[in-house]
Amino acid sequence: MIRSILRSIACAGAGLWLTLAPVLAGDTAQQSARSAAEIMDILMWSREPVGGPFALTDQAGHARTDADFRGRLMLVYFGFTFCPDVCPTDLQAIGLALDKLGPDGDRVQPIFITVDPERDTASHLAEYVPLFHPRLIGLTGSGEAIRQVADAYKVYYARVPLKDGDYTVDHTAYIYLMDRDGNYLGFFPPGTSADRMVEIIRPRLAEPAR
Ligand code: NI
Repeated sequence: MIRSILRSIACAGAGLWLTLAPVLAGDTAQQSARSAAEIMDILMWSREPVGGPFALTDQAGHARTDADFRGRLMLVYFGFTFCPDVCPTDLQAIGLALDKLGPDGDRVQPIFITVDPERDTASHLAEYVPLFHPRLIGLTGSGEAIRQVADAYKVYYARVPLKDGDYTVDHTAYIYLMDRDGNYLGFFPPGTSADRMVEIIRPRLAEPAR
């Protein structure tokens, strides 16, 4: 049922993001401070650190910080629940990868951070994240808190108005892999298969903890 609602809303996802999209005047809290191309360059060439501290709210309404997940690898994904296509596809792949890892998957924490905090409240995330994996944590926060964490992870996002007065959110859709200390290891591009994620993650889990 949720899916059919989602399908009616456009999401440019990863494909269009170099040719994006006019900035909405006066709505700067709802989007990246920098352009898609600028952020892409930073991520591609590792010009700035990726990741960092965050303080957000999970789908149960509990305060969560990055420090809660030390000792586990983190798979961090940014998106929004009304995204009809890219987000659900990648979140399904993440869920499947965790299942394929078996008991080792318990040492990987999947995290979904919304770039649409106005609509993606904690209670809304509580209906959404269990569709993909029982251990998937959904995080939301103030517009400013979301912008800070998205900026830290070099995520581009921006509201795009729709004709009916509604809006969608363009966003980059990389899946970030962070080590047990919260440091950036690398990203999976959108559309990465669960099997490929498992191939990359397994050797990391086999490394001794420091
Ligand atoms: Ni999306």
